[in-house]
Amino acid sequence: MTCIVLYCRPGFEKECGAEIQEKAAWNEAFGYIEILKKQGIVLYHLYNAEDGEKLIEKLPLKRLIFARQWFLSLTDRIELPSTNRVEAIVEALGTEWQYVDLRMETADTNDGKALSKFCRKLAVPLRQALRKNKIMTEQGDNDGANLHALFLSGQEVILGYSLGHNSSPHHMGIPRLKFPNQAPSRSTLKLDEAFLYFIPKKQWESRLCSGLKAVDLGAAPGGWTYQLVRRGMMVSAVDNGPMAESLMDTGQVKHYMADGFKFVPSKLNVYWLVCDMIESPKRVAKLMVKWLLHGYCKEAMFNLKLPPKGRYQEVVQDMQLIKDAFSDAGVQYELYAKHLYYDREEVTVHARLLSPAPLAKT
Ligand SMILES: C[S@@+](CC[C@H](N)C(=O)[O-])C[C@H]1O[C@@H](n2cnc3c(N)ncnc32)[C@H](O)[C@@H]1O
Repeated sequence: MTCIVLYCRPGFEKECGAEIQEKAAWNEAFGYIEILKKQGIVLYHLYNAEDGEKLIEKLPLKRLIFARQWFLSLTDRIELPSTNRVEAIVEALGTEWQYVDLRMETADTNDGKALSKFCRKLAVPLRQALRKNKIMTEQGDNDGANLHALFLSGQEVILGYSLGHNSSPHHMGIPRLKFPNQAPSRSTLKLDEAFLYFIPKKQWESRLCSGLKAVDLGAAPGGWTYQLVRRGMMVSAVDNGPMAESLMDTGQVKHYMADGFKFVPSKLNVYWLVCDMIESPKRVAKLMVKWLLHGYCKEAMFNLKLPPKGRYQEVVQDMQLIKDAFSDAGVQYELYAKHLYYDREEVTVHARLLSPAPLAKT
């Protein structure tokens, strides 16, 4: 039976499953969910095999909040022999389709990590065999199909493919970012990943460049401010807590000991609003809408903290609240949310208006 395999953060399989089921249904594709609990893997079994191709083509992965990566299965779970595994995989694939890359994958767990060593070893002869049989082409083409091999154990694999233009370029959707030693908190990686994920690199020169003004709500001790400062921005850091000395010494940061819900910029010259306050997600969502519609900022990157229960419903409601407010104001906008790798109990949202801010007073 054909299925879509989705990877998410372990522990969020239920949310990932609920989301694919709902969004697949919007595309008139129906099926049932199989969850590999605490392994960060969800299988969405389709009642109609043809719907799989339609979905991975039409439903942008960027529109899925909880899935980091996905692929469409080509095989059921294959039992591999203890020898000649490469031959068994090549035989299961046939020679009808060509792929531009091979992705060897495992669950995002400790067992999965141990298994990935085995996968790395197997990848070498497998790649050679795929090339020899012309199943994998020599030239990398970003828009071609990637071959995925999900190893559930050393003896069991699911094969499938994703489309280059609608999948993550990172292994299992996880960008490996290096923690900068000078950053005052590990949270810094969240904003680093958010910029990498939401803002196309080609536009960094104009949207993430030196000289832009930024406001960081809930800034202490300064992990997010650090990411803005290192890109040459001037930052108003708002938090009653203390900011790292190293950041204050740069001369690029002004610290306001104030309530992030009451702070208003003195001029309409702020480009970025970033917000990592641990607060009710609805309250944060409303605040972000206010900043954008009043023209207090041009773009906003913020986290919505998830409650212990009803996490998917909470994000859906918060996103709807933002969409409704933008629609009521008659503005065009870009709005995406993702449960990023460096996020834990929160999702990151990026929002910007594509038309003038209607409530801005000049
Ligand atoms: C998760 S921490 C922020 C970490 C920060 N982004 C970093 O990378 O270092 C949340 C911060 O939000 C601040 N905070 C919570 N509610 C706030 C409010 N109403 N106004 C200002 N800051 C607030 C807290 O003081 C805390 O420092």
